[in-house]
Amino acid sequence: MIGNGSVRLLSKNFDVPNMATLDVAMKHGAYDMLKRAMKLKPEEVTELVKASGLRGHGGAGFSAGTKWGFVPKDKFPRYVCVNGDESEPGTCKDRLIIERDPHLMLEGALICAYAVQAERIYIYIRGEYYYPAKVMAEAIKQAQAKGFIGQKILGSDWSCTVHLQNGAGAYICGEETGLIESLEGKKGWPRLKPPFYPAAIGLWGAPTIVNNVETLAFVPRILDIGPEKFAAMGSPKNGGTGLFSLSGHVNKPGVYELPMGTLLTDLIHKHGGGIPNGKKLKAVIPGGSSSHILTADECENLPLDFESVAARGSMLGSAAVMVIDETVSIPQLMHWMVRFYAHESCGQCTPCREGTDWLLRLSKKFLEGTARKRDIDDMWQLADNIDGKTICALGQAVAWPTKSYLVKFRHEFEALCRN
Ligand SMILES: Cc1cc2nc3c(=O)[nH]c(=O)nc-3n(C[C@H](O)[C@H](O)[C@H](O)COP(=O)(O)O)c2cc1C
Ligand code: SF4
Repeated sequence: MIGNGSVRLLSKNFDVPNMATLDVAMKHGAYDMLKRAMKLKPEEVTELVKASGLRGHGGAGFSAGTKWGFVPKDKFPRYVCVNGDESEPGTCKDRLIIERDPHLMLEGALICAYAVQAERIYIYIRGEYYYPAKVMAEAIKQAQAKGFIGQKILGSDWSCTVHLQNGAGAYICGEETGLIESLEGKKGWPRLKPPFYPAAIGLWGAPTIVNNVETLAFVPRILDIGPEKFAAMGSPKNGGTGLFSLSGHVNKPGVYELPMGTLLTDLIHKHGGGIPNGKKLKAVIPGGSSSHILTADECENLPLDFESVAARGSMLGSAAVMVIDETVSIPQLMHWMVRFYAHESCGQCTPCREGTDWLLRLSKKFLEGTARKRDIDDMWQLADNIDGKTICALGQAVAWPTKSYLVKFRHEFEALCRN
């Protein structure tokens, strides 16, 4: 559900009936921006996206245009992968884009493919997203029939096909190199770095741009309103708007499109309708379950953009904002979070495989009333031994929030200890 009071740039056609059908989408301008992009040189499109300040909305917030510019000049073939795995707890905005305006994302992916001269686009959709995958499959078929996908697109020399791939329900396949391995038909095990960027060495060793659904859906809008206007809508270094998935203890949970840099307290109170039943705010998880928790005090005056949230010691990540009121037990919350990561660890590296399991066992002791004070320090030590010592960032994704829960809410863990 798109919340009221939102800015409608990306989501402006979400409420148009039958927007997923090509005829309706074209009446609202679908593929006009692909035509506009193809009148420019590929590198000009990349420069335009760079100038817009568009950041990746999948988690890391990397500049989209800069990433496109990493493709080596003389290496072919090239691919684009659309990351629609959307498995970060609390995140539910890519699904909305795919269901409500699939041609917008498809057009963005095609513009990206044109900019990097890719010959194939792979759309990787989370396995559980059965209905969105169906919508996307139909959108691809229709766009293909109209000549926006396939051989010699719009009469040019550039050809590009689109392939839809369903995931099989593994969180780790959202990590870009895990996604690539999965697409290659292997176990979705993240790759060792270096190489750091699939843009240089990706799918089958070829240059591959991996971008999130939302990131690519913004691209036609940037061409439409121009990079300067897009940049000005957000905050410094954070162009445009973003889709914020608001959940937890708020009166009006939902997905809100708001300018980057909107205050967290405005999202919760002005747009989300505040905290139900007159309860007090205890904490907020600002960027999906992988981000450090913020105490109520730390939430004051916090612009929701990548730099500001990082400066407050957390991360904006996928912009999944989870609101926690005073009734929530942080040790219980931590146990829930650790259970997720222990289950989703791919098991490839020891600190993550063993560490998450030990964290799970120790965090359970606090709920069973068998924990001792030294368990708090042991959990911190375990998290520290995972942090930065693993193949992929799932290690940090469990270590960072764990440490933040233990440090900021130590008293709650102590209160549950045996003596
Ligand atoms: C464990 C893990 C899970 C991830 N899951 C997703 C995901 O579900 N969707 C996504 O877009 N990015 C996910 N990412 C981030 C991707 O690795 C990658 O940075 C992103 O798709 C790049 O797109 P962007 O630059 O448009 O954000 C995940 C990263 C990690 C470490
Ligand atoms: S950190 Fe965890 S999920 Fe990532 S590669 Fe290692 S074991 Fe797999």
